[in-house]
Amino acid sequence: MSSSSDKIKWNQIFEMGIVNIDDQHRVLVDTINKANHLLTNDYTIENLQEITKDLINYADFHFKTEEELMETYQYSSYMLEDYDMHIQEHREFSVKVQNIHDELVEGNSIERAEIINFLCQWLIDHTHTTDKKLGYFLEKNIT
Ligand SMILES: [Fe+2]
Repeated sequence: MSSSSDKIKWNQIFEMGIVNIDDQHRVLVDTINKANHLLTNDYTIENLQEITKDLINYADFHFKTEEELMETYQYSSYMLEDYDMHIQEHREFSVKVQNIHDELVEGNSIERAEIINFLCQWLIDHTHTTDKKLGYFLEKNIT
């Protein structure tokens, strides 16, 4: 459910054109918005740890879904550079969020704005460019 104070507004540009991927993108947008609301109202290291842990798990599940589609339709055979960049962006996201989580577990706090801005920017950049390329490829190749 979106509200006027949401950090990211859902928009069709987040869609790749594959129903379950689009649903997962919607969950990611909702998760970031919920994280922003929660941390705005109740910033605690424990809440932030919980959020980053959930995000690591959900992103892992989501990346696997996309990567299985790449595998099925042999994305790397046709679009190797795009494939490599896509995988690299997924791995960088996972490493970055895991590092943030580890910092929090060690008791180091991270500013709300820093993490929220990173998550928003990453999701927008990735879905609007890298995922779109995959979406166009799948659109042409899924019969
Ligand atoms: Fe992706």
